[in-house]
Amino acid sequence: MKATAALLLLGLAALADAQLDWWQKSVIYQVYPRSFKDGGTDGIGDIPGIIEKLDHFVETGIGGVWLSPVFKSPMKDFGYDVSDFREIDPIFGTMADFDALVLGCRARGLKLILDFVPNHSSDEHDWFIRSKAREDPYTDYYTWKDPAGINASGSPIPPNNWLSNFGGPAWTWVEERQQFYLHQFHAGQPDLNYRNPLVVEEMNDILRFWLDKGADGFRLDAVPHLMEDQTFPDEPPSNDPSYGPDQWGSLLHIYTKDQPELYSLIYGFRDVVDQKQGELGRSLVMMVEAYTNITNTMLYYGNGTHVGAHFPFNFELINNLNNNTDAAGLRNVISNWFNYLPSGAWSNWVVGNHDQPRVAGRFGNEFGLSAIILSQLLPGTGVTYNGEEINMENTFISWEDTVDPSGCQAGPDEYWRFSRDPERTPFQWSADSMAGFTAGSTTWLPINENYVTLNLEAQKAAAVSPYKVYQKLTAARRDIIAVQTGEFKMLTLNSNVFAFVREVPSGNPSVLVLVNMDNFVQVVDANPSSTLPAIGTYYTGSLESVYVENEEVSLSSVNLSPRGAAVIIYDALA
Ligand code: NOJ
Repeated sequence: MKATAALLLLGLAALADAQLDWWQKSVIYQVYPRSFKDGGTDGIGDIPGIIEKLDHFVETGIGGVWLSPVFKSPMKDFGYDVSDFREIDPIFGTMADFDALVLGCRARGLKLILDFVPNHSSDEHDWFIRSKAREDPYTDYYTWKDPAGINASGSPIPPNNWLSNFGGPAWTWVEERQQFYLHQFHAGQPDLNYRNPLVVEEMNDILRFWLDKGADGFRLDAVPHLMEDQTFPDEPPSNDPSYGPDQWGSLLHIYTKDQPELYSLIYGFRDVVDQKQGELGRSLVMMVEAYTNITNTMLYYGNGTHVGAHFPFNFELINNLNNNTDAAGLRNVISNWFNYLPSGAWSNWVVGNHDQPRVAGRFGNEFGLSAIILSQLLPGTGVTYNGEEINMENTFISWEDTVDPSGCQAGPDEYWRFSRDPERTPFQWSADSMAGFTAGSTTWLPINENYVTLNLEAQKAAAVSPYKVYQKLTAARRDIIAVQTGEFKMLTLNSNVFAFVREVPSGNPSVLVLVNMDNFVQVVDANPSSTLPAIGTYYTGSLESVYVENEEVSLSSVNLSPRGAAVIIYDALA
């Protein structure tokens, strides 16, 4: 047996770094509850369904499960419009189901992360109903403004030109109160007013409530939108011709996004989490979702005086990697992230979520899998969106079947540009009827027809499959110390091959990762300066790879399939 293969079999879990927290060592896996598993027959996924599949997480090697919102909601934005922050929506189950989920996770050593939606509530939330009626203390829980005037047909004119993310004005008129309210998303999602300290306290209490109920942390939704400029000026045009006048992209969001005051709110939420961590005696995580520039992204970690999130999601691979990126381009994307990352801050890599076209759809199956390999082996936490472990593809959804408000508001001609339905279709468990997702006969979104061949059960049975590769990645992340804390060095080989190592001193396995950015086979010298040993051991890689697991690989001549990746274990030179 080769020395490096033997190293791998030594029982590497024992070598894992005990100093790291659970969210640093394990994969964080996003469950989109409506689409994960239906425990009943209504064709909508729910908590009993998730409970049925808890062993899937364990078998897959996932450590932390982040649930998109399961709270009470009229579902105008499929749960991101919360009408009671302390209740489970009946579509998803009951509080007893939630309690059972917590217990089921605990019994398996899994962590449970909830989605906290601070920017807005539902328009059916009791606070909003009372705010409309000017009932104190709720009168100023939301952002209310008088009309700018009355138009020729007698209708009130919105206070300014601000637009909703989903298209159309960000203001909706309320007869009862004779004012407009602000909603940066759907009209059913009024923005909470964080200039009101009572709102901050309400939201802090909600964090405490769920931590007391057993949550291990939160993903905070849409945080760049938490504050707006208090003087409510018009936003300037973006002059981007690809957006119509009522589409969000037609303006530059300099007064509704990334306002300097919002970061202290984030630091305040972190204080609440930290206080609870001390009180509960278990380690918690706070991650934030912020689509913004890299400078602003880093502010979410903290400002030197205050700590912020454990990490803001790193969307750099989503924003900057495409099928034309070459090796130098990818090196730039990655080094740019590390150049901005504050010292001591923990990184993470995201390639998909319920708001982004699936990675396999963006890049094709081979390169999609390569991107997943990158997300798991680059330094920091790997974040996975459900379905990525089997390389699920986007599903074509007709206008008639479109339900996402972002698609619906764009209308029949343009819905496909904005709809997030294609990445939200039911998880493909098996080739059984309804892909094993529901015992019912309909589903809330169509199941991708490819489920007959592309499903978890088939991939478990196959000798080589995306799922088998994914399991190797989660095992590496959990068990190989080099993947957790190894020194990260990018290699410059040629314009078509991106490569890096995660290296630890000789005696423990180090990891070499190569990605072919080109559409043709590449045979590359991965060791031009002889800084690596001559031979390594193939660990995993793309489906078309010429290598099999544990095969010896000459590092001076590594074969990479088109758009494929290879992960090679080696023993660093002494
Ligand atoms: C971000 C969420 O991920 C998305 O699905 C939602 O529509 C908006 N925030 C509004 O909550």
